[in-house]
Amino acid sequence: MDQQPIAISVQHLTKSFDGRKVLDDISLDIRRGEIFVIMGGSGCGKSTLLRHMTGAIKPDFGTVLFNGQDLTRMSANELEKVKRRFGMSFQSAALLDYLSVEDNVSLPLREHTKLNQKIIDIIVKMKLGLVGLQGFEKMMPSFLSGGMRKRAGLARAIAMDPEVVFYDEPSAGLDPIACAVVDQLIMDLSRKLLLTSVVVTHNMDSVFRIADRIAMLYNGKVLQVGTRDEIRHSQHPVVQQFIKGELEGPIDIRSQEVALQ
Ligand SMILES: Nc1ncnc2c1ncn2[C@@H]1O[C@H](COP(=O)(O)OP(=O)(O)OP(=O)(O)O)[C@@H](O)[C@H]1O
Ligand SMILES: [Mg+2]
Repeated sequence: MDQQPIAISVQHLTKSFDGRKVLDDISLDIRRGEIFVIMGGSGCGKSTLLRHMTGAIKPDFGTVLFNGQDLTRMSANELEKVKRRFGMSFQSAALLDYLSVEDNVSLPLREHTKLNQKIIDIIVKMKLGLVGLQGFEKMMPSFLSGGMRKRAGLARAIAMDPEVVFYDEPSAGLDPIACAVVDQLIMDLSRKLLLTSVVVTHNMDSVFRIADRIAMLYNGKVLQVGTRDEIRHSQHPVVQQFIKGELEGPIDIRSQEVALQ
C-alpha cells in the first residue's frame, strides 16, 4: 500500500465557523486503494473534513488535492466533473422514500449520463447484487431494515463507478451484526472495485475491522496517523483514552457533553 500513489492530499486545511477554528492546519495523505478511517469525538470536525475532501465546502486556508488537482481552486464546472468520480454515503443522506430501491440507485445515472434505460437497469441490478440486495429492486425504502437501507445507499454511492467513496458514519444506528455486515461490504467493495475509501466513524469495532490506516482528530488537529497496530499501541494518551472509551484521561469530558447537545 505504501507504494500506491496518493489519491487525496490534504494540506494545511484550516476552517473556522463563527470565529471558532474547527479544522486547524490539517495535513494528511490518502493512498489509492486504501481504506482510510478518520476517527474522533463528536463535533471534532470529522464531517467538516470530509466535506472539504469532496469539494462541498471551501477552506479558509489550505488545499485538497485529488490526483494532484486542487479542488479548492476549481471552477464550479470543473469541480462538478471531478465530483462524478466520487461516491458518497453521508450521515444524513437517506434514500428518497417516494422512489423504489432501483430508482434511488439509478438516480445519479439518469442525472449524469446519457445511458439508455436498458443499460441503466443492468447497471442497477449489478450494483444491487454487489451489496446483496438482488431481488429488492421494486421495494420501497420504508419496507427495508436499517441495514438494508444502508446497503441500498451504498449501491447508489457506487452507481457511477467512483474512484473514491466517502462514508460518513456508515453504520450509525445499526445493531452490531448489521454494522459488521456494512463493514464487510465496505471491505468487499474496496477490494472488488479497487476503490479508495475514506470512512468517518467513531465505532471502534469498525475502525479496527476495516482500516488500513487511521487518523485521529482532536481539537481540530490530526493527533496521529497510523496503521491499526500503530494506533492500538499508540503512546498518545488522548488516542489511548479514546480507543478504550475511558472517562479518566486528558480528553475534556465537559466539551464532549457540550458537543453532544
Ligand atoms: N456549516 C456550519 N456552520 C456552523 N458551524 C458548523 C457548520 N458545520 C459544522 N459546524 C460546527 O463545526 C463543528 C464540527 O462539526 P462536524 O459536523 O464536522 O463534527 P463531527 O466530528 O462530524 O461530529 P459528529 O461525530 O457529531 O458527527 C461542530 O461544532 C459544528 O457545530
Ligand atoms: Mg459528523
